[in-house]
Amino acid sequence: MTTFSFSTDAPVAVKAGVLILPVFQGPEFGPGVKETGLEQTFRDAKLTGKKGESLLVTKRNGDRFASGAVLLYGVGERRDFDVPAMRKALGRIAPSIGRFGHAATTFPQAVQGDVGEVSQAAAEGLGLGGYRFDRYKSTKDHKPLTKVTVVGGNKADAKAGRKAVRGAEVIVDAVAWARDLVNTPAGDLPPAQLAREAQAMAKAEGLTCKVWTEAELKKRGFGGILGVGQGSVNPPRLIELSYKGAGGSTPIALTGKGIAFDSGGLSIKDAKGMETMKIDMGGAASILATMKVIARLKPKINVIAAIPSAENMPGGAAQKPGDVITHYGGKTSEVLNTDAEGRLILADALALLAEKKPSCIVDTATLTGACMIALGTDITGAMGNDDALVEEIVQAGRSTGDWIWPLPLHKEYRRLIDSNIADIKNIGDRWGGAITAAWFLAEFVDDVPWVHLDIAGPAFSEKGNDLGPKGATGVPVRALVRFVLDRAA
Ligand code: BES
Ligand code: MN
Ligand code: ZN
Repeated sequence: MTTFSFSTDAPVAVKAGVLILPVFQGPEFGPGVKETGLEQTFRDAKLTGKKGESLLVTKRNGDRFASGAVLLYGVGERRDFDVPAMRKALGRIAPSIGRFGHAATTFPQAVQGDVGEVSQAAAEGLGLGGYRFDRYKSTKDHKPLTKVTVVGGNKADAKAGRKAVRGAEVIVDAVAWARDLVNTPAGDLPPAQLAREAQAMAKAEGLTCKVWTEAELKKRGFGGILGVGQGSVNPPRLIELSYKGAGGSTPIALTGKGIAFDSGGLSIKDAKGMETMKIDMGGAASILATMKVIARLKPKINVIAAIPSAENMPGGAAQKPGDVITHYGGKTSEVLNTDAEGRLILADALALLAEKKPSCIVDTATLTGACMIALGTDITGAMGNDDALVEEIVQAGRSTGDWIWPLPLHKEYRRLIDSNIADIKNIGDRWGGAITAAWFLAEFVDDVPWVHLDIAGPAFSEKGNDLGPKGATGVPVRALVRFVLDRAA
């Protein structure tokens, strides 16, 4: 684990393994460079501060800096260097500097903005970018940073800076945990194991946790979770978590899709389509991680979560296209395609949460390929029954770089999930699949303000990106945390 600190010392006085300093296009030297005396060295190397350029200078006798090395890093045009760009630049640097153990940076001083916000983003960049998943590698050659120091310019900022990097430390740790859960092969993480992970986390962090077994789910009529789970030898679970930070006040409610593996069921996927389907519990993992952050940062708000988990397999007992299931609370749905299973398990969880009359419900799910087609791999789609709530979550995305964009819950499309024989059916037309999926979910939230986040695109990175390697991304933990903290403030 990486520990994070905030310092208002002069950059040259910070004793880190490596001190990372920005250089803008020009070159125009950023905070801390002048004092190191390395401006001419940078120019002599024929560098101009172009994005991605780097010059590593190790300390010699007589050098004016206390760190073992200085990394001068090109960040491009000053006017383009905003908070997300800085977070990404540090994320790009992180994988190659782990060997120094302790990294410090003045990057946040080079960006306009609230000191807390810029400090947190800098810490997140170095923390998230350095993540690797090597549990299954026999040679573990990746060295993560053990310590990160964010160097702020102003003594008066120390309090806000320390609070911000503490927040980043907790968030980075939780995002890494979510990524680990999602990257773990489905064979090693069936629903019961996911539930045990949740229980262990809850115990360690002081959250209340109740896990519903298959027998208990049967007794209370969770037909969606049971229907999806019945084709697998690994039985389903429902994980309930609760955090109390505000006495008896109305809680926020969270849920996430926890399909341990999505083969499609009898409406089976092809080989290519199944390759990455261990990630289909990415929504569940992001809610678990969000609860972990909440437990540690202790905002003054109450939060409840109900996370359904099942394995979607085509075993002999599997549900069949055309079957009708009865969800928790009594609504029925006709399962015309067993590969549209996420909405079936979420329906039960949403109905359970709505019954508790929370102030709002947020769900997140790797729900539809259609959303991926619409918004690509960087952006989460948001749909809901309350425009102000959707805007609130979009804003939380904007301020964390965990991009979220609204899609319309167009009223005319509701009829596309009308069923001949049940209350609703689980697929719509060929078109607008992200929206008809959301309409299905909408049936189960009563009149509770609700927003659905479709993370099919951003949950997993095919090639890797600036904030992490190929694989699970931990989206949308950062946005969810921001949403909850902003509500508590
Ligand atoms: N888990 C998938 C959605 C998905 C696809 C997530 C690709 C991440 C990457 C979901 O259960 C699914 O299979 N959805 C179907 C729904 C269809 C049958 C209505 C889809 O999107 O094709
Ligand atoms: Mn599916
Ligand atoms: Zn799925």
